[in-house]
Amino acid sequence: MCGIVGYTGVREAYPILIKGLHRLEYRGYDSAGVALMGEQDDALKVYKAAGRVSDLEAAAAPNDCSGTAGIAHTRWATHGVPNGINAHPHVSQSGNLSLVHNGIIENYATLRDQLKSKGFTFKSETDTEVLVQLIEYVEQSRHLSLPEAVRIALSRVIGAYAIIVMDRRHPGVLVAARKSSPMVIGLGEGNCEFFIASDASPIVEYTRRMVYLNDEEMAVCKPGEELNVVTLGNDAVNPDVKHVELDLDMLEKGGYPHFMLKEIFEQPQCLRDAMRGRLLTHHKRVVLSAVSDHREQLVEARRFIFVSCGTSWHASLIGKQLIERFCRIPCQVEYASEFRYANPVILPGDVVVAISQSGETADTLAAIQLAKKAGAIIFGIVNSVGSSIARLSDTGTYIHVGPEIGVASTKAFTGQLVILTLLALAIGYERGSIDKGTYEKLIQELDVIPEKMEKVLSQNERIKEVADRYCGIRNALYLGRGINYPVALEGALKLKEISYIHAEGYPAAEMKHGPIALIDENMPVVFIATHQNEYEKAISNMQEVVARKGRILAIVTEGDTVIRQFADNVIEIPDTEECLVPVLSVIPLQLLAYHVAVGNGLNVDQPRNLAKSVTVE
Ligand code: M6R
Repeated sequence: MCGIVGYTGVREAYPILIKGLHRLEYRGYDSAGVALMGEQDDALKVYKAAGRVSDLEAAAAPNDCSGTAGIAHTRWATHGVPNGINAHPHVSQSGNLSLVHNGIIENYATLRDQLKSKGFTFKSETDTEVLVQLIEYVEQSRHLSLPEAVRIALSRVIGAYAIIVMDRRHPGVLVAARKSSPMVIGLGEGNCEFFIASDASPIVEYTRRMVYLNDEEMAVCKPGEELNVVTLGNDAVNPDVKHVELDLDMLEKGGYPHFMLKEIFEQPQCLRDAMRGRLLTHHKRVVLSAVSDHREQLVEARRFIFVSCGTSWHASLIGKQLIERFCRIPCQVEYASEFRYANPVILPGDVVVAISQSGETADTLAAIQLAKKAGAIIFGIVNSVGSSIARLSDTGTYIHVGPEIGVASTKAFTGQLVILTLLALAIGYERGSIDKGTYEKLIQELDVIPEKMEKVLSQNERIKEVADRYCGIRNALYLGRGINYPVALEGALKLKEISYIHAEGYPAAEMKHGPIALIDENMPVVFIATHQNEYEKAISNMQEVVARKGRILAIVTEGDTVIRQFADNVIEIPDTEECLVPVLSVIPLQLLAYHVAVGNGLNVDQPRNLAKSVTVE
């Protein structure tokens, strides 16, 4: 769960690497480093710093940062505290090799003991330093070239890695390899330069021609020569060069103070993008190519098993309700981290739906690898194009909401919900399990949902005023029924991850089985109580809170006059079809969490202890 960048070519490497690291800071931001080499076999120039990329820049500034090749890293610590010593790049004992790594070497302790017995010493506590020493050991003891030494060393490694290695004795050459961690290589004009990174964002302003390295592949980048790719078993690979379109403006904040706020406000447009070409309003049809291409497996599915984590898991809970309601196919929702170790029963006809914004979440990836081996068809609902989960899926649908930079997931969640609705409609239609009237009504409603979302967003100032009253709280309870229950979970997750306020989501009726003991005048309770979802019963649950002096913030349907009478604060959302309520009801909760965190002076885009892409288990 780190970001890596490499460059070799004709330009100065340092500015390219630093800019790239800034773009990858969402992957980790507790320390950073860079190693540079010139055109002669001089000593490597290595600079590191605890903290953010800006701290690295300050540390490197007084030094010589010249060189036309280099590697760089922004870290999310796994082995060893975040400090300058544990920061990457790590350098081999001789000072010849330097390496950056994203992933975890699981057998690093055994390898380190073996290397110590051969006379190697270690400066850091990291698994990565073990890897660079291992490569050096293999190179020296077997008199191998750098690529061969990397390949052989990796055959002794258990774990996940995306690595870039350079050797000061071979100016300009970068060796990159990956297993279970992402890596993409950008090709400069005439192969005069190569850009390597954890995703396309640091590369796209230089070239659109990219090669996504597959698992267990290694690439040698040498300016002036073709990109040379082999498998770690040493079979030649013909690299698949893709033309990648990525809007750079989307990577910037676009005038908003934070990426999270920008991404919240982008949602109406994101939903339009997600539905484009799929929701054919004039033809009253939903068309998903994945459903047409895998019609039999999806339409005849025996069961859907959703695997995912965090916010994507909340979307899965809603997906279950949609598929069961409109397709009458039984569904199961699993935390990917539990599923992968639970020896799950996977039967013929099962479809495993992997939902992931990043497409790189280690637990979700492992869950689908297991399901695939057991014979299930994998349907990916992913945002990051070309990501590991997308590539491992047999079929699926991209949500196409653009890069999500803020650590708190917002637009990916509503994008996932819309894709899940389209999926349920497409399969339900094919199965004949949804009646024509409902199908057509939902198509019309999906068409206008972005406008309704804009209406919710227009209340931002008012939501901020409400949030200001909640800045001092230490706990909060989020309650909802039916389709609003996962929204309660998502609202609570948003608040806790960016404001560090303890928050819990519950099905509203469960409150009386325990959490009600927490209610007093100091306990804020956020109710999602729209007209559609067992409205009267939700009101009874609210009365139970009022009777115990709890403070209620209610998300209600526009025009509600009942709840207003006893709730402390009310935020209205436009009326819509029940299955689409979460797309609207989650917006005030995203804004509430955002304004509470900003009000408390916190870094909403990069909250403590978190990273955007969780590529470790
Ligand atoms: O990239 P993914 O959707 O697979 O990520 C799953 C979770 O790590 C993610 O949703 C996390 O919970 C977010 N920080 C929530 O805002």
